[in-house]
Amino acid sequence: MTTNQLYHGDCLRFLATLGDESVDALITDPPYSSGGLHASARQQCPSSKYIGSDGKKWNEFVGDNRDQRSQLAWYVLWLSEAHRILKAGSPVCLFTDWRQLPLTTDALQAAGFIWRGITVWDKTEASRPVPGRFRSQAEYIVWGSKGAMPLNRAAPVLPGVIREPVRKADKFHMTGKPTALMRQVVKICERGGVVLDPFAGSGTTLVAAAMEGFGWLGSEMLKHNITVTQERLGALLPPAA
Ligand SMILES: C[S@@+](CC[C@H](N)C(=O)[O-])C[C@H]1O[C@@H](n2cnc3c(N)ncnc32)[C@H](O)[C@@H]1O
Repeated sequence: MTTNQLYHGDCLRFLATLGDESVDALITDPPYSSGGLHASARQQCPSSKYIGSDGKKWNEFVGDNRDQRSQLAWYVLWLSEAHRILKAGSPVCLFTDWRQLPLTTDALQAAGFIWRGITVWDKTEASRPVPGRFRSQAEYIVWGSKGAMPLNRAAPVLPGVIREPVRKADKFHMTGKPTALMRQVVKICERGGVVLDPFAGSGTTLVAAAMEGFGWLGSEMLKHNITVTQERLGALLPPAA
């Protein structure tokens, strides 16, 4: 298998090209199809649901308007493919929010993985305050493994809460994750392994994997995000002599 590949297109097509038991970790931030209690609210574009008036400066992204039943069915489709591709004992990390937390833990297990816990991404007090309410300060990483996960894996102890704000200079996608956050998360992969992210967006998982010395594989539907990811990965290369 060729590592360090970025595929432009639907992740299900990309995953079908990857061999059985060939990858060491699935770490991904799929479209949540969240941000609305009712079907009509979910049909809105991501910028209206997630960002508000500031959203128009970001490119829209796709795949974020499924209802709960189709979201669950779709998650199980691509997670089942990922289950085939991962080596035995490999970790899986899925980003989600409070609304989709139950669906995400259901999908993980329906696809055959063992659910092992939830790690919190604490976005800090930099996240939007709303008077009279709890601050929406956290997203979650549902994690698990393909079967038993040996205790002697070549990976460090990882934090149960990762506190990392979104910084403007480090944001390349409407729902882009901080690079520093992803550099911590990818360390769940065994040293020398290959990290798979089927929903690369602006490539933060892949960039973090490259920075931490892992191989990487990713797919993304939108050309704009492919270009951004290629630029970010290209910037990591040493300048030509
Ligand atoms: C939540 S974003 C990922 C953001 C990423 N973590 C980052 O830091 O930039 C999810 C991405 O999945 C892409 N996407 C949605 N459906 C897809 C599919 N079927 N195959 C591949 N990519 C898809 C969207 O275009 C979007 O960019």
